[in-house]
Amino acid sequence: MNKNIVCIGAGYIGGPTMAVVAKMNPDRKVFVCDINEKRIAAWNSKNFDLPIYEPGLVDVVKEVRGRNLFFTTDIKKAVKSCDIIFVGVNTPTKMFGRGAGRASDLQYWEATAREIKGYAEGDKIVVEKSTLPVRTAAAMEAILNGERGTGGGERGAGPKFTVLSNPEFLAEGTAIKDLLDPDRVLIGGPDTPDGRAAVKEVCDIYAGKDSKWVARYKILTTNVWSAELTKLAANAMLAQRVSSVNALAGLCEATGADIDEVARVIGADRRIGPKFLKAGPGFGGSCFKKDVLNLVYLCESFGLHTAAEYWSQVIKMNDHQQSRIVSRLFKEMFNTLANKKIAMFGFAFKADTGDTRETPAGCVARLLHEEHVRLAITDPKAIENGRRDLADLDGIVWEKNPYKAAKDADAVLLMTDWREYPELDWEKIYKSMRKPALVFDTRNCLDAAALRKLGFKVLNVGK
Ligand code: NAD
Ligand code: UGA
Repeated sequence: MNKNIVCIGAGYIGGPTMAVVAKMNPDRKVFVCDINEKRIAAWNSKNFDLPIYEPGLVDVVKEVRGRNLFFTTDIKKAVKSCDIIFVGVNTPTKMFGRGAGRASDLQYWEATAREIKGYAEGDKIVVEKSTLPVRTAAAMEAILNGERGTGGGERGAGPKFTVLSNPEFLAEGTAIKDLLDPDRVLIGGPDTPDGRAAVKEVCDIYAGKDSKWVARYKILTTNVWSAELTKLAANAMLAQRVSSVNALAGLCEATGADIDEVARVIGADRRIGPKFLKAGPGFGGSCFKKDVLNLVYLCESFGLHTAAEYWSQVIKMNDHQQSRIVSRLFKEMFNTLANKKIAMFGFAFKADTGDTRETPAGCVARLLHEEHVRLAITDPKAIENGRRDLADLDGIVWEKNPYKAAKDADAVLLMTDWREYPELDWEKIYKSMRKPALVFDTRNCLDAAALRKLGFKVLNVGK
């Protein structure tokens, strides 16, 4: 009989991932649990007012919720009734004590492990879905199989736990597409009879009912430590590409080269490929910074100081990109920003999400606020989160309508590449602004020549 599944953590990972697991495995029951009652209520809301915005998510939830997908705060009951437990709780950067500012804060993860241990009655497969430092599975094992001894041995009483690592590679904004058609699924497990059997169970979930989901050749299996490290390494490599292209963007601005042209030609080399070469305001999102910092911390912990220094430059370059945006605005606006109105177009860390965690727009907004800029911020999906992020700053106006945000502004600062921004009536915007009217398009997504024709002064990144 197919085993039922529970995921602990109903956030950006747990919610969409389990919705697709339920869609592709209609013969299994899938539970998603969280301690956050408000979040679970939103997942269960009658009008599908879900706690996160993700294209295509509502349709999947409509199809499976109540059929074989259940959102609940009753973790005890869900753990008891399921044999396969995914752990998708948050693992933010630790902000206190040892490793502060770099290491992962593992308190939520450890609390979950203890909960599972407390509630489980039979043997369980526990699957790390969160991004975790290498060798976390060893600590998980020690907590879960404490009385048995590590390795899930036969000593002592109580249920036996087999711990696997199955990191998630989806990107926000394309989560459903990425889940339905992933480049690869990674499952790391111990090379023991229990480990191999558990890996097969999880492979079967991803294969889906009647093998209609992920093709077997795309399901890659490794040892647990490789799986844990691969997730951090994959994010670090992606973040490093963004920092590399942004480092070249400054040089383009200084020399008259054009970063989009440079990136297009570099990316035409099949050894490099065209993706993740888009210059911009720097990377945001909840994971790149935290995972690179975690890698830096791991390198330092193992005495690999040169490697740690190498990876920390990726973050340094990213921070620099955001302060460079403000410096350029300052220079273009006659070296004074005080009391000028700037309309920020886009606050989400990328298009197609309402997520604002580590968004470059947040950092730039703070720097502009220090300069006494009058900020009006607009975004199609992120106003609620943005308002909360900047609650400590006075005088910020949040405006759903971009035309209203731009009215009487000295500059429009485009921070997020929402598809609707190039479609706006820029002539109308120009007419409503103070002159000289400036557009700083940090995503290089607007038609700069057309804007210049209208009378705008236009700034881009890397041009
Ligand atoms: P999130 O903050 O959106 O969700 C985590 C949820 O876990 C929260 O709702 C929280 O209330 C819940 N939680 C915490 N402790 C709990 C406990 N003891 N019992 C029950 N619920 C608990 O975080 P997220 O963005 O979903 O990320 C989760 C993990 O997935 C992180 O390790 C992250 O690095 C990784 N990840 C995220 C993404 C992404 O796109 N967001 C992609 C790949 C991997
Ligand atoms: C990223 C990874 O792409 C996922 O594989 C991973 O699972 C996820 O992190 C995670 O672990 O959380 P995500 O952060 O959701 O996904 O979004 P990305 O598309 O990777 O974009 C990250 C940031 O880089 C955004 O701010 C984006 O605007 C920026 N970016 C991306 C660029 O500036 N240039 C690019 O060429 C690509």
